[in-house]
Parts: sequence; structure tokens; C-alpha cells
Amino acid sequence: MNIIFLGPPGAGKGTQAQKICDALHIPQISTGDILRRAMKEGTETGKKAKGYIDAGQLVPDEVIIDIVKERLAMDDCGNGYILDGFPRTVPQAEALDTFATIDSVIELDVADEVLVNRLSGRRVCLACGHTDHISRDGYTEKCPKCGEPLVQRVDDKAETVLNRLTVYHAQTAPLIGYYENKGLLKKIDGAQGMDNITSAILNALGAKA
Ligand code: AP5
Ligand code: MG
Repeated sequence: MNIIFLGPPGAGKGTQAQKICDALHIPQISTGDILRRAMKEGTETGKKAKGYIDAGQLVPDEVIIDIVKERLAMDDCGNGYILDGFPRTVPQAEALDTFATIDSVIELDVADEVLVNRLSGRRVCLACGHTDHISRDGYTEKCPKCGEPLVQRVDDKAETVLNRLTVYHAQTAPLIGYYENKGLLKKIDGAQGMDNITSAILNALGAKA
């Protein structure tokens, strides 16, 4: 099953994509993670992306489209995948239509006020990609999965978060209508507890854990 996760920054796309990918045994393709890895490794793509990401802006469509096209051609995508953070603009969605067939689009719906709180307390593991939150019972600064340090993303600073929300509403939210028109959109209340959301997504996909 080829699935898109759509939603504003902090909606829980990454958190839920990990759970659903584990349940369905398909890869999670997070364009944000791919770009952060490229920045860490200092590749040409990473250098190009850094200024945009740090400012909370989208990287140019032509940069990201080629990355996703190459990634989807890899063997592990043969049985399906979750696109987490792509497409983010109508031109990206139109480009995707030329090289992939999407079965479902899951929209995680969360109010802006909740998102700001989620993002300011988020901590991530740069080694394994795990996402945590400082408000979780038992939270420590070490990744519970691999033991590496948890850090705050540069773009989770308050002013950058507000930019990212503005960019989402202007450039990405139009994709809700785009996929609604294709009959692919499934809206999920992303403000519930994490396990309820996972169940709601599996249900919407007609899948079992
Ligand atoms: P990206 O990494 O994709 O960031 P984003 O879309 O802004 O989304 P986030 O990762 O911030 O949020 P999320 O929905 O994954 O939430 P999470 O699960 O972590 O992109 C970063 C940048 O890269 C972009 O700004 C852009 O510059 C560039 N980029 C990436 N893709 C691009 C593209 N296609 N085109 C152009 N540029 C691109 O959860 C957030 C927090 O909330 C966590 O702490 C989590 O523990 C907590 N949480 C999650 N669910 C719940 C819940 N149900 N209840 C309580 N807390 C919860
Ligand atoms: Mg994410």
C-alpha cells in the first residue's frame, strides 16, 4: 500500500508513520529526515537545504522531487511505503503522480495551538530518528531506543515554528483539496492519544496491526 501522511508540523506524522510502518512492514520515507541526514553529512543537497530548513521555509521543489523519485525506485518500496512530509506543494503532488500510484492519504488534523506546544518540547535522536517529548513520563536526554543523546531540532525554535505553520497553511494545506478530489483523503483527529490515532489510521487503511 502506498500511503501519504499529510498534516502540519508537529501533527504526529513521524510518530505515527513509525508505528504504522512497523505494523505493515513497509518503509517510512521522511523527506525531513533525508534532508537532515544530508545536512549532517555535509552533502551538496544538505548544503542547499540548510538555509531553507533553518528558516522554516520549504526547500525548492526540484531538489526534493528528484530525491523522492530515486528513493521510491529502491527495492524496499516494492510492497508499499509511507511518504512522511512529501508532497508539500501542489507541484510536488503533480510530479508524484507521474512516478507513483498513491492508494491512501492520511490527513492528521491538529489545531495550531497544540502544535506549538508539541514542537517546543520535542526532542529527536539524530542517530536512529526516534522522536520523544520532554513531557513524557520517564523522559531522559538519552534515546530510549539506541542510547544516543536526544536533541532539539534547530527549526523547533519558537519563531521558526511560527514560520513553518504559516508555510504549511499557504503551501501545503491546498493538498487536502487536491487529494479529496481524487477520493483518497482520510481525515484523522490528530489531537487524541497516540495509540487511539494509530488504531484510527489502521482502521482507515483497512489494515490490522
Ligand atoms: P519535516 O521534518 O517533515 O517537518 P514537519 O513537516 O514540519 O513536521 P515535523 O517533523 O515537525 O512534525 P511531525 O508531524 O512529524 O510530528 P512528530 O511526530 O515529530 O520537515 C522539516 C523541514 O524540511 C521543512 O520545514 C522543510 O524545510 C524541509 N522539507 C521536508 N520535506 C519537504 C518537502 N517535501 N518539500 C520541501 N521542503 C521539505 O510529533 C511532534 C511532537 O509531538 C513530538 O514530540 C511527539 O512526541 C509529540 N506527539 C506526537 N503525537 C502526539 C499525540 N498524539 N499527543 C501528544 N503528543 C504527540
Ligand atoms: Mg516529522
